[in-house]
Amino acid sequence: MATWLTGGVIGRWSVDDVVSFLRTGHGRGAVAFGAMAPVIEESTQYMTNDDLHAIAVYLKSLSAHGPAGTYNDNEYARARTYQAIATGEFERHGGGIYLSFCARCHEADGQGQQGKVAALAGNSLVLAPDPTSIIRIVTEGSKSPQTETGPEAKKMPAFTESARHARWPKW
Ligand code: HEC
Repeated sequence: MATWLTGGVIGRWSVDDVVSFLRTGHGRGAVAFGAMAPVIEESTQYMTNDDLHAIAVYLKSLSAHGPAGTYNDNEYARARTYQAIATGEFERHGGGIYLSFCARCHEADGQGQQGKVAALAGNSLVLAPDPTSIIRIVTEGSKSPQTETGPEAKKMPAFTESARHARWPKW
């Protein structure tokens, strides 16, 4: 949430995306995790539309604090990544590991599954300069919030054990 709030990412979200996120834990391909999940489950899902709308308008009025959520897109890197993902090229270790361990849920193009699995493409957590949150979620796993009006809660598996036993490519 902190990255999501301070990184200017929210600038790309509409007020309705923010309201949906606070009501159901899902908004604009993102899914709430960690400390934000209980906040939604126990509190914001029960707020009135007017209150959620007011919060969303307020959040969007805040200025971005840092460069989180931005990335340096370049055509060469993008073409290499697409190629690695399409061919499962293991030397390109990120692409190979992603394809083996992550793509069955997050999809090869990183768009996730609407209402079920978070999109990773353009995700503020993935793009954040501080990798603490993404390392935690991949090693420890997570569970999306269960709300009255949102999609069913889904689990992100923890990868500590599989990483220990898997044959990761050498680098
Ligand atoms: C069995 C399906 C599944 C697999 C395999 C999987 N994930 Fe996930 N992932 C999920 C679900 C479901 C969520 C949403 C969980 C939540 O919100 O707590 C999620 C959330 C995430 C998030 C947080 C995104 C956000 O904004 O909520 C990241 C980052 C992530 N996964 C990375 C990965 C990586 C990297 C891999 C491979 C090493 C991977 N996942 C493999 C199901 C999966």
